[in-house]
Amino acid sequence: MPQLTSSPAWQALLAHRDALASRRVEQLWEDDPGRGAALTFPCAGLAADFSKQRLTAETVGLLAALARERGLPEATAALFGGEPVNVTEKRAALHTALRGDERVCVGGADVRAEINRNFERMRVFSEAVRAGQWKGATGARFTHVLAIGIGGSSLGPRLAIDALGAEADGPEVRLIANIDAAELDDALAGLDPATTLAVVASKTFTTQETMVNAIAVREWISAALGEAAIAKHFIASTANTAAATEWGLPECNVFPFADWVGGRYSLWSSVGMPVAIAVGMARFEQLLAGAHAVDLQFRSDPLERNVPALMGLVGVWNRNALGLATHAVLSYASRLACLPAYLQQLEMESLGKRVDARGEALAYSTCPVVWGGTETPGQHAFHQWLHQGTDAASCDFIVVAQPMGTHAEQNEIRLAHACAQSQALMSGIAAAEPQRACPGDRPSTTLVLPRLDAYCLGALLAAYEHQVFTQAVVWGVNAFDQFGVELGKTIAAEVLPAVRGARVPLHPSTRHLLDVIQGLARAP
Ligand code: F6P
Repeated sequence: MPQLTSSPAWQALLAHRDALASRRVEQLWEDDPGRGAALTFPCAGLAADFSKQRLTAETVGLLAALARERGLPEATAALFGGEPVNVTEKRAALHTALRGDERVCVGGADVRAEINRNFERMRVFSEAVRAGQWKGATGARFTHVLAIGIGGSSLGPRLAIDALGAEADGPEVRLIANIDAAELDDALAGLDPATTLAVVASKTFTTQETMVNAIAVREWISAALGEAAIAKHFIASTANTAAATEWGLPECNVFPFADWVGGRYSLWSSVGMPVAIAVGMARFEQLLAGAHAVDLQFRSDPLERNVPALMGLVGVWNRNALGLATHAVLSYASRLACLPAYLQQLEMESLGKRVDARGEALAYSTCPVVWGGTETPGQHAFHQWLHQGTDAASCDFIVVAQPMGTHAEQNEIRLAHACAQSQALMSGIAAAEPQRACPGDRPSTTLVLPRLDAYCLGALLAAYEHQVFTQAVVWGVNAFDQFGVELGKTIAAEVLPAVRGARVPLHPSTRHLLDVIQGLARAP
């Protein structure tokens, strides 16, 4: 596939961009007061309002043409068909199969029965823990779950458990991700080993942070209850059953998923076990159902009104045609506080690439910096930068339409601010004093969820997954590998003996920095 910049559809988009350059979004609204309805599309019960983007219906048509020229329909068929779309690692990326029910083959083998078996085991176990039938070694029922994992083995469960907190009626889940003894201490504080179940989530079952934390929790449990208790108190969600059993877990404590489930796409697999324990399997199934509904629409909606594809294409427009280097996700829901971190991994680990899938250097930018916050607190902090900074960012506003919590006034004000911020970013304001002027014309999409429940959360996350896939196809990159994270791990392994006092050769910059750190470690 030739590079994006040499594509005729891309050239047409750039010409269109230049023709549109003199029109602000505000003026586009004057030109066409019906653009709200024309640029707002439904998706699995959600609504995506693109009308505050710096584009018109013509732009959408040109972006759809670009997607077709870049082969998005064929690539989508390959993704859902179980083809090895992860070309560098020569495997499928079939997380969508975990939330559907269609027959699906990988390398010629039907994997539906395996998916269903894994799912059924997860259901039985999570319900047994919730019902107090799976008990600890002393016969006590579990009141707490320690979920140990990092990256994709943590961010999804953390986000879902927070988001669905209002519906959590199972044991309390605490998550341990970082290799930071203080985080571990905080997670263990006040817990009783006799009533604590540990869930280790690691696709590879080799990730240093996770395995070191798992050993610490294992020692905490076995010190109190004896080594035999581990079989009652420890389970694993992994694609590496052999490593988990070698680690000492009985095979029945291992909840597997296939290697064609990428880490950042693994919430839908047994990595979601802590979610199922916290909110129940019925709600976890709703999460899958919402995601599946989006999958169906992504596969069948025309690109001109295909919400996940348009999210991706509008992102390409903002990044490559308008030159916006950062993208802020602004959630008007405290329970979605983890969404920016989740999307940072999903988008930046998938799309933070500078060569295409064949290894050719790219002549254009890919993933913007993804960041964001919870609103309205962010309005009293970094929104200043959004409104008056020297750089413009694109934004996604996430708005939950129905009341959350029991206080009506909070909900009314929350909604007023959500609407006001995107208007303020778009319209800006002229002022006699330059310090008070806001340039406006900052583009945003607003994603409206009817309510913050499992179904809508699943739909939201699947929409972002397909946004990422769409962008990967247009940019020509492989969204399913992440080799860039490896170098730091290798160097850390070389530095660790020096941290422990061994005289090992180090890069002079690292030797210097370690000396500074160790000097201050001895400071009074
Ligand atoms: O280091 C990056 C990464 O591999 C992520 O892609 C992944 O989600 C995370 O580490 C955790 O990996 P694992 O689930 O194998 O422990």
